[in-house]
Amino acid sequence: MNRPGRILVIGATGFLGRGLTESGSEMVPAAREPEDATGWVRVDLEDSPTVERALDEVDPAWVVNTAAVTSVDGCEKDPALARRIHVDAVSKLAQACGERRIRLLQLSTNYVFDGEAGPYGEEDEAHPLSVYGRTKLEGEAVALSECEACVVRTAVLFGFQSGVRPNFVTWALSALQEGESIQVVTDEWANPTWLPDLVTSIRGLTEKGATGVVHVAGRDYLTRYEMVEALCDVFGLRSDLVKPVRSADLGQAARRPLRAGLRTDCVDRLLGSIGAPYRQHLETMKAAGTSG
Ligand SMILES: NC(=O)c1ccc[n+]([C@@H]2O[C@H](COP(=O)([O-])OP(=O)(O)OC[C@H]3O[C@@H](n4cnc5c(N)ncnc54)[C@H](OP(=O)(O)O)[C@@H]3O)[C@@H](O)[C@H]2O)c1
Repeated sequence: MNRPGRILVIGATGFLGRGLTESGSEMVPAAREPEDATGWVRVDLEDSPTVERALDEVDPAWVVNTAAVTSVDGCEKDPALARRIHVDAVSKLAQACGERRIRLLQLSTNYVFDGEAGPYGEEDEAHPLSVYGRTKLEGEAVALSECEACVVRTAVLFGFQSGVRPNFVTWALSALQEGESIQVVTDEWANPTWLPDLVTSIRGLTEKGATGVVHVAGRDYLTRYEMVEALCDVFGLRSDLVKPVRSADLGQAARRPLRAGLRTDCVDRLLGSIGAPYRQHLETMKAAGTSG
């Protein structure tokens, strides 16, 4: 049964974790290194007793697990770490949630698909190309089998959030504002997802007691190059600094799905259409100022 109550946010020092934590007083931030001795709890996903202690002390209705090794190339270089965080730790977390009848919302990615025929619906067959995608897909399966879980797949998160690493849009924005030239791929499609929209959707999914796999992503289906073109347009930046390149020519350790991205009919039916077009979010970023 879905019950109202607190939501334990694991990975609260990350981009999504911070956005969720700031979204309401029912959110309890959990991290390997808590930032505040009172409001935060310590959870290291590789240290099971910290997970079990947090679940017992906080007694949340839901756990939202945002923690991950989000460097896709880093996962290729250290597949053992990717497996420990994305599969083994999620399995233990899901078991601990199941034993306590706590629901788990597990974050996943459009990189579970091979990018031959996106954007993808929830029923489409996954076929990951990278260690990141493969381990995230295995993590989905263990979450769904060990407890009552909702797996939220998303894509290319963007927005301003202080205290976190740059995202694709803020990376391009900073470089172009500094007058640096950047290489941007012309053959990778996805739907860029405005962080506050993902936060709103996650809150809505927990309120509705959603289970199973749900895709949450932005409305527009664009190449990375088109995302940066729009950024130049909205912020009045030099587009001649943006050098088009093909994904295969970048020499990255992990292969990227090219026509990736997600269809969102299911979440639109459940929650109504959330969010605005990509360009409108860029206008919001511009109005907020470059530091957010
Ligand atoms: N960002 C995107 O574009 C994108 C796209 C699709 C899907 N996703 C998924 O969305 C989720 C959130 O992504 P994000 O961009 O917010 O990630 P992020 O900013 O890289 O944050 C990841 C967080 O995981 C934490 N973490 C790593 N290992 C941990 C451990 N052993 N125990 C506890 N916490 C640990 C990190 O904590 P420390 O500060 O201690 O290192 C960090 O706070 C991830 O599951 C990701 O796979 C993201």
